[in-house]
Amino acid sequence: MFRSSIFLTLLAGSLAAGLDITATTNLTELPVNSLFTKWRTTYHFTAPQGWLNDPCGAMYDPTRDVYHLMYQQWNPNDVQWGNISWGHAVSRDLVDWVDVGGWKGDAAAALVTGPEAYDSKGIFSGTGHAINLQGEVDGTLALLYTSVSALPTAWNIPYIPNTESQSFALSHDGGKTWGKHPGNPIIVDPPSGWNITGWRDPFYLPWPEMDKVLNKPEPHWYMVMGSGIRGVGPRIPFYSAPASNLTQWTFLGALWEPKDNETFGNVLETGSYGFNFEVSGFFSLKDEQGNDHFYATMGAEGGGVPGHGRWALWAEGEVSRCANGSAQFDPVAVGAADWGNAFLYAITSFDDTKKGRRVSWGWSQEDMNNYGVNAQGFQGAMGLPREVFVHKTYNVVADNQTATIPTNAKYSAPGPDGTYTVTSLGVKPLPDVVRRLRRRAEKKHEIEDKKYTCPEQLEGISSAHFELSATIRDAHVPVGFVVRASPGAEELTTITFDPARNLIAVDRSKSSLIQEFSNVTASGDYKPYTISTCEPDDNEVDTEVEDIQMNIFVDGSLVEVFVGGRFALTTRIYPVRDDALGVGIYVAEGAEAEVVDLKVWSGIGSVWPKRPVDTSNSTSTA
Ligand SMILES: *[C@@H]1O[C@H](CO)[C@@H](O)[C@H](O)[C@H]1NC(C)=O
Ligand SMILES: *[C@@H]1O[C@H](CO)[C@@H](O)[C@H](O)[C@H]1NC(C)=O
Ligand SMILES: *[C@@H]1O[C@H](CO)[C@@H](O)[C@H](O)[C@H]1NC(C)=O
Ligand SMILES: *[C@@H]1O[C@H](CO)[C@@H](O)[C@H](O)[C@H]1NC(C)=O
Ligand SMILES: *[C@@H]1O[C@H](CO)[C@@H](O)[C@H](O)[C@H]1NC(C)=O
Ligand SMILES: *[C@@H]1O[C@H](CO)[C@@H](O)[C@H](O)[C@H]1NC(C)=O
Ligand SMILES: *[C@@H]1O[C@H](CO)[C@@H](O)[C@H](O)[C@H]1NC(C)=O
Ligand SMILES: *[C@@H]1O[C@H](CO)[C@@H](O)[C@H](O)[C@H]1NC(C)=O
Ligand SMILES: *[C@@H]1O[C@H](CO)[C@@H](O)[C@H](O)[C@H]1NC(C)=O
Repeated sequence: MFRSSIFLTLLAGSLAAGLDITATTNLTELPVNSLFTKWRTTYHFTAPQGWLNDPCGAMYDPTRDVYHLMYQQWNPNDVQWGNISWGHAVSRDLVDWVDVGGWKGDAAAALVTGPEAYDSKGIFSGTGHAINLQGEVDGTLALLYTSVSALPTAWNIPYIPNTESQSFALSHDGGKTWGKHPGNPIIVDPPSGWNITGWRDPFYLPWPEMDKVLNKPEPHWYMVMGSGIRGVGPRIPFYSAPASNLTQWTFLGALWEPKDNETFGNVLETGSYGFNFEVSGFFSLKDEQGNDHFYATMGAEGGGVPGHGRWALWAEGEVSRCANGSAQFDPVAVGAADWGNAFLYAITSFDDTKKGRRVSWGWSQEDMNNYGVNAQGFQGAMGLPREVFVHKTYNVVADNQTATIPTNAKYSAPGPDGTYTVTSLGVKPLPDVVRRLRRRAEKKHEIEDKKYTCPEQLEGISSAHFELSATIRDAHVPVGFVVRASPGAEELTTITFDPARNLIAVDRSKSSLIQEFSNVTASGDYKPYTISTCEPDDNEVDTEVEDIQMNIFVDGSLVEVFVGGRFALTTRIYPVRDDALGVGIYVAEGAEAEVVDLKVWSGIGSVWPKRPVDTSNSTSTA
């Protein structure tokens, strides 16, 4: 029990087990790579070493039955952003990954800068398909990326003309080698008249549903980018190309025209559009009834509120054809694709044609305030691959104000019984990936259903790399779980659902004894629905509030929380003590809640079978 256990007094300077660091060690003075394995993930996608940010070029190659994931903006020679190129790994199952070219040095680099000027300063983000430039599946892989010829670039500084253009790279050997398209760059100019804040990260796809909306007689491919007009608002420019020629793009228009720093609803429910969009996406998903729902996704810069510096957003919209043949997108619900203060950002997605689903990837940046990063020897990882889907809840009881205010869920018109169907963008870690990770855990712990009235440590669980799955019932006060807890509670992280505030929160105030690391609480909006359980001819009004179903993935410093199929939050924690491995239940003082179906899979091992544990640059160049 955390409350009643004897609290050990941690003397400043006392040693944590294993690595010789304490709360007061000056991490800046430690040798490069000396903390390489301390907080490193085992079962998430990472670069071998150095800096990593956006996921890029995710695709399934049906010719060779293999998945690809590239990672922008890889800088193998430094833990900081710079000399931005793409690294590359492949997988048969989206679980185990192999570096194409090997993990040593910069062998895993796939696309690098230059030698020509148009991409001499950076290979920025983009997407990929297993097609040739005539849109045919013939074993070719095609990456569309932003070629950068001038730096710096940022939404809040003047734009150097022609900084960004869009280019293709092609592979004819399954991604072992890549060649830049001789016609590069294929799109040179941003939309005319736009004084842009940025214009990058092309996301392209074939899209029969959009052909139908726009009355295209021939099949087309579509593309969006992230952009913005200075002093006006962020933008998602929309393009099309005939399927037979993917270098022939026509600008159609902006999807919609938000104003600078506009919000769709309450900023803490719907986020802020900010001043510039990056890493945008545009696609449709079918619901259970076979109806199409249209979604835009975007990373919004500049519209920060405390605890949310940038926003990884999704928007569902109604789509119609403009007179000039473009698509008009009118948002009907907007929410955070991940709530963790952009600790999952640059979220992109691809059509997993093998499994018939849309899979999203996002970049989990570090939250170390740049302290000790040279000792760590790398920065950044990807979150788990997630399925995004149309999430519908039926028979929801709500007042008509709740049902009509703009928020992160769309309420239907009320049905004959007065209840609503509520739709939002569902998100869950890929179920097959989760099953395989569970199978490779060292131990499975099943904890009996129980009412808890005070915090309690779970016996026999000790892990920095685990999944916890549980359902919380009848929570009237904050209830949840404690992870990475040291035996005397000197360090611990509390993950709760607070019914009074409709909030999922990860309290990091005690996550690390190291004061330099960020300790702000990461939180996001989560409202359980009240469901009518009456039969149609039943006169009694029976309702129940949804249980809180949580899946928590802890992997070294990386924490991902999924709730109810429609909420995700990613954050980072850096406990200094090597014995901060405990897992427990949290219940607020004087309260009780039932926790059912609680399972923990601990000791989840590496998903990089060909990498040693230490792939730091000192090892790889040795
Ligand atoms: C840690 O070490 C760095 C580099 O030597 C130094 O600049 C910094 O002031 C030190 N910090 C503290 C708190 O002593
Ligand atoms: C940039 O990175 C690539 C790939 O790792 C490398 O080949 C190249 O030498 C680097 N350039 C600079 C200027 O560091
Ligand atoms: C575009 O924005 C810049 C600021 O970056 C400003 O100096 C310039 O006047 C703007 N140009 C136009 C045509 O509005
Ligand atoms: C494809 O489009 C590009 C750009 O408009 C054009 O230069 C090229 O000739 C086209 N290719 C074919 C085969 O039509
Ligand atoms: C097409 O029309 C829409 C709606 O009026 C407009 O926003 C867009 O800029 C137009 N497209 C072009 C290429 O002018
Ligand atoms: C953007 O809007 C939010 C409220 O939604 C506000 O807190 C923030 O200060 C605004 N940012 C700027 C730069 O105006
Ligand atoms: C390894 O990375 C560190 C930064 O963490 C950098 O200072 C050093 O130069 C790199 N060494 C090599 C061989 O790339
Ligand atoms: C909202 O509900 C109230 C009573 O519950 C009703 O009087 C009112 O007409 C409703 N408003 C709308 C717009 O449906
Ligand atoms: C959180 O971090 C801030 C800034 O470093 C510090 O002032 C504060 O004391 C920390 N809070 C806790 C509970 O450690």
